[in-house]
Amino acid sequence: MPAAKRLFIGLMSGTSLDGIDCVIVDLAGDTPALIAADCHALPDNLRHDVLTLCADKQAPLAELGRLDIELGRCFAEAAIKTLAAAGVVAQEIEAIGSHGQTVFHQPNSAAPFSLQLGDPNTIAERTGITTVADFRRRDMAAGGQGAPLAPLLHQHCCASPNKNRAIVNIGGIANITLLLANGARVAFDTGPGNVLMDLWIARHNGARFDKNGEWATGGSIDSAFLAELMSEPYLALAAPKSTGRELFNGAWLEQRLASLKQRPSPQDIQATLLEFTATTLSTALLAGMNQGEIYLCGGGAHNTALLKRIGELMPGYYVGATAEIGIDPDWLEAMAFAWMAQQTLDGIAVDTSPFTGAKKPVMLGGIYPSPTSAS
Ligand SMILES: Nc1ncnc2c1ncn2[C@@H]1O[C@H](COP(=O)(O)OP(=O)(O)O)[C@@H](O)[C@H]1O
Ligand SMILES: [Mg+2]
Repeated sequence: MPAAKRLFIGLMSGTSLDGIDCVIVDLAGDTPALIAADCHALPDNLRHDVLTLCADKQAPLAELGRLDIELGRCFAEAAIKTLAAAGVVAQEIEAIGSHGQTVFHQPNSAAPFSLQLGDPNTIAERTGITTVADFRRRDMAAGGQGAPLAPLLHQHCCASPNKNRAIVNIGGIANITLLLANGARVAFDTGPGNVLMDLWIARHNGARFDKNGEWATGGSIDSAFLAELMSEPYLALAAPKSTGRELFNGAWLEQRLASLKQRPSPQDIQATLLEFTATTLSTALLAGMNQGEIYLCGGGAHNTALLKRIGELMPGYYVGATAEIGIDPDWLEAMAFAWMAQQTLDGIAVDTSPFTGAKKPVMLGGIYPSPTSAS
């Protein structure tokens, strides 16, 4: 008889703000089984207001509260729509793992802090499903960076006993997870994934992103600009480390451009930004793993020009997509938060120490019970 299903929902909205990823997964077996998945666009005005908050790094408390509630409503709606499309009813779901929308991440200050908006109370009330949220701050309280957390799932279902593997997630920010055959585990944010390319093409061509890197491919790499980008001190920091829009944003880019003797053309800037992502990723991978397999996931894994460059910079390594090892590259991160919700509900403390530097295993996230949980 097949084991009873254990259905969870994962909700993820990343740095790119391209939409809310929602997955329904069956976590009864060893490897998560994807039942349904969808990406739900954020309303334009809400996306704009969140980006403004990220750029300004301040807002009146009433505005912060409004965004928290409105994002919570959008997350709830995303879950409800995905359930309806899949023909699954809320009562079949054990819990939602909701990452929330990061608007601030400051792991290295005297008071380490990370803020994800999207009120989990609203999600639990509107969906009727127990919601687990606020995963990052518990890790920080235990001495970790609070990020990256998806490597927990990479380790759980992508490691091989006889091959070195790296999972490379190219979201707004890129992170790598090294799963070495000798058992060593390392993960960290390498730097920008798509975030700078997205903002640059949006400013010049009005597009949300540079599809397949086509605009970048028509430009030339500016070596002085690339050297300037590569001089960012974050890149030389030892792991564990994590970053976000607080560092890699429009102001950072303008500063780097302003220090050049000659400003490259907009298209050459795009070409160089693509090279910057490829170089930071390949440098980190080459330093961490002297041979092996590289599996990509996240939206940037669709950028064919970027993939080509990563392959060229890493001759001798196998470069593929996580689909080849059984995990859909578009939904891996949302699945990871569904999986974390299951760990927390089952009372399991997870060992994030190789990835975030936490000092001890931690139970990640707070539990917001469904309205029907009370007896
Ligand atoms: N075909 C494509 N070509 C280039 N970039 C793409 C393509 N598809 C998706 N992307 C990039 O992926 C990003 C979304 O990736 P995602 O993994 O959702 O990031 P995040 O976790 O930051 O939300 C988009 O903003 C875009 O930059
Ligand atoms: Mg996204």
